Amino acid sequence: MVVTVLGSSGRTGRHIVRLLVRQGHAVRAGVRNGRRRDAVAGLGAEPVIADLCVDPDELVEVFTGSEVVINAAGAADPDPAAVALIDRDGAMAGVRAAERAAVRRYVQLSAQFADAPDQGDRLVRSILYAKQVSDNVLRRSSLVWTVVRAGTLTDEPPTGRVAVAGHLGAGRVSRQDVAAVITACLKEPRTENRGFDLHSGPLPVPAALAALD
Ligand SMILES: NC(=O)c1ccc[n+]([C@@H]2O[C@H](COP(=O)([O-])OP(=O)(O)OC[C@H]3O[C@@H](n4cnc5c(N)ncnc54)[C@H](OP(=O)(O)O)[C@@H]3O)[C@@H](O)[C@H]2O)c1
Repeated sequence: MVVTVLGSSGRTGRHIVRLLVRQGHAVRAGVRNGRRRDAVAGLGAEPVIADLCVDPDELVEVFTGSEVVINAAGAADPDPAAVALIDRDGAMAGVRAAERAAVRRYVQLSAQFADAPDQGDRLVRSILYAKQVSDNVLRRSSLVWTVVRAGTLTDEPPTGRVAVAGHLGAGRVSRQDVAAVITACLKEPRTENRGFDLHSGPLPVPAALAALD
């Protein structure tokens, strides 16, 4: 499949690109601008410029020909304005552009508690509300969607074992395990048109996704 990954230069995005390439997909590694091409060099993917905060027509052009778009982008700045621009408005623009480009499947990396965002300090709330809005836009889109609400991300080594469910208590998960789950979603129909929380846990990734009820 032709898969475009938004936020490919990010800590999770790079793992997603690497896994997809290993699985035999033709991967377009979306980076914000030409200066970020180096961040995806050597991953075996085609770098493409995909900034969620510029002209949406450019995103449509980049997405055209992709069967799948995966959004692993997010604001780096701990600043509610940046979060609103990237995680809310930018993520919504990604969904709309994918619809216009006739993409079939869209997987969004979201955050745990985005479906109950009235908690935490000002920054946490701004992130959760931004994710909630864009997750809802994806849910109501014409795309076959998946929203992966990950717990706190870590750079610990992968375990290959996770817990997924409609709702979990607070927890953590390694970015490499998140990448394994996101890529496995493309092979598991039970993940279509649904959102779920994700932590490290007891089950191998394919078994965990197959057990989603
Ligand atoms: N931190 C947590 O505990 C946690 C928990 C759950 C979910 N999440 C979410 O998981 C996602 C990935 O997290 P991460 O830690 O892997 O992120 P990260 O390393 O900060 O990477 C973020 C990526 O988003 C890209 N990006 C920023 N603005 C963009 C724009 N306007 N258009 C396109 N791409 C843009 C960045 O590009 P550059 O490299 O050019 O900056 C980078 O590739 C984020 O959405 C985050 O909110 C985080």
